[in-house]
Amino acid sequence: MISIIAAIDQNNALGFKNQLLFYLPADLKHFKTLTTGHTIVMGRKTFESLPKGALPNRRNIVISTRKDLAYPGAEVFHSLKEALANCSEDEKVYIIGGASVYRQAMPLADELCMTLIEDSAPEADAFFPSIDPEIWEEKSREFHQADEKHPCNFAFVNYERRCNHSVTISTSGIASTDSSPSSEG
Ligand SMILES: NC(=O)c1ccc[n+]([C@@H]2O[C@H](COP(=O)([O-])OP(=O)(O)OC[C@H]3O[C@@H](n4cnc5c(N)ncnc54)[C@H](OP(=O)(O)O)[C@@H]3O)[C@@H](O)[C@H]2O)c1
Repeated sequence: MISIIAAIDQNNALGFKNQLLFYLPADLKHFKTLTTGHTIVMGRKTFESLPKGALPNRRNIVISTRKDLAYPGAEVFHSLKEALANCSEDEKVYIIGGASVYRQAMPLADELCMTLIEDSAPEADAFFPSIDPEIWEEKSREFHQADEKHPCNFAFVNYERRCNHSVTISTSGIASTDSSPSSEG
């Protein structure tokens, strides 16, 4: 099972200068609750943005082209495909960013665990891909009102891949296949 987990603003913005855009303690708690005990996969830049390195009580996997990298508490693989090939079928894998890894993982993921933030960051340089409603079906939505600890409203929204958009794995790579009638003609 491959899940993407991300927090985005109203412009799909994810980050600026390798940092998150909003400080929402409830979102950090939600992230911890979902990912603890499971596997997290991230790009090298996202790993380097973590203040204390590898996140505890999770299998940390970092993707980098660099062959010389070694991080305490994390495994390094040299492509997303290689990383996923080293995960077992029954492992719950969370893709935790950043932008480049989300783009690659979108066609492979079974679900999206999104935090949709009702605000726009003044500056951003990393963006999440658009969520196509023909591919992704909203399954749940939990709204949170702004309060003294949270400067804006936000919602935890889960999407599942529609069954007519399955993922196929072939020897030449991995691709998302649209088997809906409209794409067959
Ligand atoms: N809002 C959120 O939920 C959220 C979550 C995570 C991150 N972010 C934000 O996203 C931004 C970072 O995103 P980003 O796209 O700049 O960086 P990134 O995806 O975190 O890392 C990019 C790096 O990952 C490695 N990589 C990616 N794909 C690879 C592949 N197929 N094979 C080998 N290596 C690969 C490369 O490392 P090498 O250069 O070492 O080869 C690449 O430079 C930051 O602003 C961060 O705060 C936001």
